[in-house]
Amino acid sequence: MPPFLVVFILLLLHTTSSSASPECDVYALGKLKASLVTTSNATALGDWDPAAPSPAHCSFSGVTCDAGARVVAINIMALSLHGGTLPLDLELFDALANLTIAACGLLGHFPASLHALPFLRHLNLSNNNLTGALPSGPGHRYFPSLELLDVYNNNLSGPLPSFGAEHAVTLRYLHLGGNYFSGVIPDDYGDLDKLEYINLAAYCLSGLVPASLGRLKRLREMYMGYYNQFDGGIPAEFGDLEALVLLDMSSCCLTGPIPPELGQLKLLNTLYMFLNWLSGDIPPALGELKNLASLDLSMNELYGKIPASLAKLTNLKLLNLFGNYLHGVIPEFVADLLNLEVLQLWDNNFSGHLPAGLGKNGRLKKLNVGNNNLSGHLPAGLRNYSLKTLDVSYNHLTGHLPPDICTSGNLEKLVLMENVFFGPIPVSLGDCKMLRHVYLNNNFLSGPIP
Ligand SMILES: *[C@@H]1O[C@H](CO)[C@@H](O)[C@H](O)[C@H]1NC(C)=O
Ligand SMILES: *[C@@H]1O[C@H](CO)[C@@H](O)[C@H](O)[C@H]1NC(C)=O
Ligand SMILES: *[C@@H]1O[C@H](CO)[C@@H](O)[C@H](O)[C@H]1NC(C)=O
Ligand SMILES: *[C@@H]1O[C@H](CO)[C@@H](O)[C@H](O)[C@H]1NC(C)=O
Ligand SMILES: *[C@@H]1O[C@H](CO)[C@@H](O)[C@H](O)[C@H]1NC(C)=O
Ligand SMILES: *[C@@H]1O[C@H](CO)[C@@H](O)[C@H](O)[C@H]1NC(C)=O
Ligand SMILES: *[C@@H]1O[C@H](CO)[C@@H](O)[C@H](O)[C@H]1NC(C)=O
Ligand SMILES: *[C@@H]1O[C@H](CO)[C@@H](O)[C@H](O)[C@H]1NC(C)=O
Repeated sequence: MPPFLVVFILLLLHTTSSSASPECDVYALGKLKASLVTTSNATALGDWDPAAPSPAHCSFSGVTCDAGARVVAINIMALSLHGGTLPLDLELFDALANLTIAACGLLGHFPASLHALPFLRHLNLSNNNLTGALPSGPGHRYFPSLELLDVYNNNLSGPLPSFGAEHAVTLRYLHLGGNYFSGVIPDDYGDLDKLEYINLAAYCLSGLVPASLGRLKRLREMYMGYYNQFDGGIPAEFGDLEALVLLDMSSCCLTGPIPPELGQLKLLNTLYMFLNWLSGDIPPALGELKNLASLDLSMNELYGKIPASLAKLTNLKLLNLFGNYLHGVIPEFVADLLNLEVLQLWDNNFSGHLPAGLGKNGRLKKLNVGNNNLSGHLPAGLRNYSLKTLDVSYNHLTGHLPPDICTSGNLEKLVLMENVFFGPIPVSLGDCKMLRHVYLNNNFLSGPIP
């Protein structure tokens, strides 16, 4: 039988009958290869022989079949297919459950046919250069079985699709970040009851962040920032996201206060809200976030003092509050945070002394309190092993520099300029092997630079 006849018969098969066959999959794999593999890399998918009789296709690299030799999974990753595209008629793979073609340099559109695949559960087309819009939903046959959709880092644009209540029972993982989607986040994303992960971090989303998202009781991670331009602020309803472990809404034009309701997120480990226009006080309720390890509220318009309740955040590793309008003293409790590694409070109006015990935890790596109104001496614990960066510039700190400031040998950056330190420059600085940056100017120090 001449090959064109085979193709013709197979075409007939799949168009005339709903009970597709392994032969139809072989034909579809041939079309997929022809579309993916261009002259830019003619050797790719070399073992995909379109003339191979079923079930040989089940051992093509990246292809998995079920017992009936139907293709249920295609996994192609990090293959350089620059110039390759996805064929429009992917609906031929009507038994497919998993499709991953990731980091392959694909061009062209996201084929609308994909949304009609009845059994498709995992779809990963991340790290390609796909353009155009996602097929618009919702609807009866709109990704009826989808559990995971990852199109991170492509060139997709247009509106975010609405998935509709039908997906409440399936969709678990939604990563649309790193694209150029525009418009608002559909309200009905709040109906996706099973959702555990949502990432909409990208450039062009606008409108209000929907309060309906607060209904996602299983959500563990939410990424909304970098560099969307939302109107309004953080919905107080986010305090109902009881499974949330990570909330990142950095750099997306948020305004208004930080809702105290966020203090209800008992499992929260990471809260990133930096580079927005958030205003008002740091809510004392954030002290209820017992599991919090990273709190970054820097570069906002927060006012007031560091609430005493934050002393309860005993798991904190990172506390970044720089670039706000905070004042008052830096509370002594920050020195008691056993795991604290990074403390950055620069560009505020803190006054008084540095906490006397700072550094005593032996873990502090980075301390930057520059550009405040601090006075008094450098705490003794800062000589401890761990410290890599010490920046106290533009304050009113005074006293001698500790002679053993570099006992740890780890110090990389020492920025003491614009204070009132006096006395000799410690000779030990000369033995500081890792030290790369030293700024001591505009103090009253004397003696040679070691
Ligand atoms: C072509 O694809 C093969 C894998 O099939 C890969 O090893 C090779 O590096 C690619 N060649 C180019 C020029 O990208
Ligand atoms: C589909 O992918 C998921 C997760 O990557 C995996 O657990 C499952 O076994 C895969 N199914 C098939 C048929 O390959
Ligand atoms: C999708 O594939 C990429 C490989 O480029 C992988 O790193 C990523 O974890 C996959 N996504 C999911 C959700 O498994
Ligand atoms: C997309 O294409 C641009 C320009 O050719 C390239 O620099 C970029 O690395 C590509 N991105 C991916 C994820 O392949
Ligand atoms: C990706 O999108 C950008 C901006 O829309 C465009 O300039 C660029 O040419 C696109 N790259 C590819 C490979 O399609
Ligand atoms: C610090 O306080 C002074 C006086 O109240 C005020 O003028 C200045 O704007 C404040 N700066 C910051 C960064 O809060
Ligand atoms: C700086 O601190 C001193 C006391 O140490 C205080 O009198 C003064 O008002 C503070 N200045 C600002 C701008 O907060
Ligand atoms: C240095 O750190 C250790 C814990 O690693 C601590 O016991 C000691 O008190 C600290 N030294 C100072 C001067 O804070």
